[in-house]
Amino acid sequence: MSSDAHQHEQNGAPHATNGRRASASRPRFESYRRQVRRRELPRGGRHPDRDEPPGRHRSRSAAQLVRAFMGLLRPFRLEMAAVLTSLTLATALGLLPPAGTKLVVDYALSGRPLPPEVRARFPRLAEPRTILLVTVLAVSVVSVVRIFIHLWGRWHSTRITKQIQLNLRRAVFEHTVRLPLHRVQELRSGGVASILREDGGSVGELVFGMIFNPWRAIIQLIGSLAILAWVDWTLLAGAAILLPLVYFSHRAWIDNIRPQFRAIRKQREMIDAGATEAFAGMRVVRAFSRQKREAGRFATENNLMARQELYAWWWMRTVEMVWEALIPLASAALLFFGGRRVLEGQLTVGDLMMFLVYLVMLLEPLAILAQSATQFQNSLSGLDRVLDLLAEPREMPATAHSTAADRRRIAGRIEFENVSFVYPGATTAALRDVSLVVPAGRAVALVGPSGAGKTTLSNLVARFYDPTAGRITLDGRDLRDYDVESFRSLLGIVEQDVFLFDGTVYDNIAYARRDAAAADVRAAAAAANALEFIERMPQGMFTVIGERGVKLSGGQRQRLAIARAILADPKLLILDEATSNLDTESERLIQQSLKTLMRGRTSFVIAHRLSTIAGADLIVVIEAGRISQTGSHAELMARGGKYRRMVEQQIHMTLGSAASLEGKGEGNDLLPL
Ligand SMILES: Nc1ncnc2c1ncn2[C@@H]1O[C@H](COP(=O)(O)OP(=O)(O)O)[C@@H](O)[C@H]1O
Ligand SMILES: [Mg+2]
Repeated sequence: MSSDAHQHEQNGAPHATNGRRASASRPRFESYRRQVRRRELPRGGRHPDRDEPPGRHRSRSAAQLVRAFMGLLRPFRLEMAAVLTSLTLATALGLLPPAGTKLVVDYALSGRPLPPEVRARFPRLAEPRTILLVTVLAVSVVSVVRIFIHLWGRWHSTRITKQIQLNLRRAVFEHTVRLPLHRVQELRSGGVASILREDGGSVGELVFGMIFNPWRAIIQLIGSLAILAWVDWTLLAGAAILLPLVYFSHRAWIDNIRPQFRAIRKQREMIDAGATEAFAGMRVVRAFSRQKREAGRFATENNLMARQELYAWWWMRTVEMVWEALIPLASAALLFFGGRRVLEGQLTVGDLMMFLVYLVMLLEPLAILAQSATQFQNSLSGLDRVLDLLAEPREMPATAHSTAADRRRIAGRIEFENVSFVYPGATTAALRDVSLVVPAGRAVALVGPSGAGKTTLSNLVARFYDPTAGRITLDGRDLRDYDVESFRSLLGIVEQDVFLFDGTVYDNIAYARRDAAAADVRAAAAAANALEFIERMPQGMFTVIGERGVKLSGGQRQRLAIARAILADPKLLILDEATSNLDTESERLIQQSLKTLMRGRTSFVIAHRLSTIAGADLIVVIEAGRISQTGSHAELMARGGKYRRMVEQQIHMTLGSAASLEGKGEGNDLLPL
């Protein structure tokens, strides 16, 4: 980085972006480099860069990783065996042409007679021109055949590569959608995408890096060694001295490179996650004109990654350079010693030429191996990260006595028994000693100030989390004893923050029930009072609504979510500020459909509208994670206390500032929560 970039930084010149970003990542890179040098870089473990209690870090040796990969390869072992056989054949055929060179040089060109036993069997080969022609023909045929066999092998290993990538990505996806919610939130969506794409992809490449290329190298190595030993073992001994040298230099280097690749992959995951988030929150980014800052952060993080990659580049190049120098130097040495033996009459010129070619054939696969070793280490580090993710426990695994929830036999009575809950990683309890009975088919309104724990309570009902203490039962049976996926099929949830997928209106409503008839989807939309706006859209039900439903208003999104819940026909219904984005008019319109929706279902309703709350069978007032009051509207009004104070305050506020509230279109009967 140039010094004037520093200057820009001090002056705060607006176009100093590159220099500034580079300098922002420098201190972090310096500390990274120190870690690499002192070999302190984490060699494994889940999220080595997050503060986690020690002991959670694991590290896998290369042998463990190789074994894990072999497990992935097992379904393809027959195909792999065929590939290796064809590869052996192709490589062996590749060893023949240099012998042809010797034949041509020694017998066709220098006119030496063929060995007597050959002459006896093929008397027609006496003529040098015939030897030349036959040899060249044979070499050509062998080469062409070899190319096709090789192609066949490559094609099949590429197929295996793709299948392994497919299997692994599917496994990672299936596993990740079942991880505990807080872990998924920690990973962030872009981060998961990064692991799926980059790490999952690179594991497939191990088919080449770990099996195909080494196998070819080994066959070629053994073949050329055998031939060299047969021609002149003293020269071979000289060539073999180099090998241990190469091996040891390699080991020292390998141990350093994999942790670096891991760190780079981690960094890429963070960048991808950050970028995905910035685009998902583009409205906020724009609203606070943070585009420049977001772009800057992206650039800084990428800058650090570029520095890490460039640093790793030197580690990679150093070894490659050693190998690049090795082949010409070894050839020169061979030429010198072999040439002397030719002069002494102990070797023919053809032998020496053949020897030279085989020497290259001996060293070349090693050089390629050494070079692909970087790729190999990189892929192993990808596998390492994938295994980390797959090793994480899934949420709420089935226990020995867990059963599927059969919706026809579930009545829907929910009971909280002394439930306390602390969010993972949090220090204070979000719910304390909550006991509550909701009879089947009844509606509870949860009331209380923001942050009191209303959403937390409904999160526990939905089993997004399990209680830290106490238990929740459905029809007298602990929720933990139901198979979690069958339990969730009883649920319908409408939240304030509606999530819609990019797709048609129809697909989004039918998300709850893929097999729903078109008439049912329409009926659900009608019941949610959504049909009116859907039909005004250009393609009606089949209008594409954009990622997260960006082409809809907040109220329209909520009505779609309500339609989705209606179609799901749930036993347990959670409405968490489900109507908060609706204006008074729309809300009045769907009050009736919400009532219909809630009929016969055990419902948890979090709302601010007094009419919604007062209509519930039971009102539960929550303050700071505790239930402070329960009862019907009439009971609570008669008893006095928090609820009555809130209602009175509400009425007071309505009288005092009706005009200002009206402007917001939020209705006048909101509880001041
Ligand atoms: N995912 C989470 N991780 C940690 N703490 C949380 C999480 N979600 C909510 N909380 C905390 O739990 C408390 C209750 O939150 P919540 O149930 O969302 O309140 P509300 O009554 O407004 O719905 C708050 O103090 C909040 O900070
Ligand atoms: Mg809430």
